[in-house]
Amino acid sequence: MKQRAQTARLRAVDQAYLSRGAVVSNFLLNGLRSVELGVTDIAATERFFTEAWGLRVVARAGAAVYLRATGAAHHVIALHPAARSSLLSVTLTAASKAAVDAVAERIAGFGGKVLAAPGAVSEPGGGYATTIADPEGRAFRVITGDEQHAATAAASDVPERLAHVVLNGKDPRKAIQFIVDALGFKLSDHTRIMSFARTNRDHHSIAMANGDAVTLNHIAFLMPNLESVMKGAGRLKDQGYPIEWGVGRHGPGHNVFAYFVGPGGLPVEYTSEVDEVGDDYKVGNPEDWTWPPGRIDHWGISAPPSDRLKQAQNHIAFA
Ligand SMILES: [Fe+2]
Repeated sequence: MKQRAQTARLRAVDQAYLSRGAVVSNFLLNGLRSVELGVTDIAATERFFTEAWGLRVVARAGAAVYLRATGAAHHVIALHPAARSSLLSVTLTAASKAAVDAVAERIAGFGGKVLAAPGAVSEPGGGYATTIADPEGRAFRVITGDEQHAATAAASDVPERLAHVVLNGKDPRKAIQFIVDALGFKLSDHTRIMSFARTNRDHHSIAMANGDAVTLNHIAFLMPNLESVMKGAGRLKDQGYPIEWGVGRHGPGHNVFAYFVGPGGLPVEYTSEVDEVGDDYKVGNPEDWTWPPGRIDHWGISAPPSDRLKQAQNHIAFA
């Protein structure tokens, strides 16, 4: 019975993946740009992201380092010196200053608060942004008008952009509901332990996972395709960063995955082939996402997540 439920859901998702022309109505926000991290060893983390992960340094400001992927986003990761590994903010993009202002105005009505009022951004990439916190203290910055790169040629083994960020907390459904209500995302799926929401065609840009504390579960980088995930994973392995979980294909989002642990216990994922969905996507529930015995992904070729990954996925808190 469970097997049949999974098969039915997979067929529906295959259909969604193929129907890229599906109608997508306007969202308040339109994407995920970057994650700002506090790191204890900036040089080692920069080396990891440039030599192993495939990003490039695009700017420096004081001790901070800004790293870009091949896509248009000015940067996808910012590294700031810190006494302990920490998450500073997750930066989402808006199409207009009005949308940024709207977020700041409406946030208190949903139990959040404004950490930085809308205004010009002084760090590399510039733009106009506001920073808000959800009721449990997760910090999100919403930005518009930031610099975009014109040179965006893809490369076969390096990331194009961020795909999604997953954050932990005691009540993923409640946490994702704030993202939906306050930031205008749409729900995509609930599983037993995770809830997924989208703000464009991507099946999810933010997901909330079940955990003891409000921490970072992982940051996922979009690779051009499955071949790129495999090539990137090989390069990571060569450089002393083995695959901690994968290669596999997830249920919700149907994306291919390979997880790694970077310096300071940073949980990162290469992903590709994430479903693109439209307004007609039916929100899935835990009963839609059961696995046959022994399975936790569609392929079943990978060992379960390593203890090292599990540890990494529950220790980086917001500063
Ligand atoms: Fe992921």
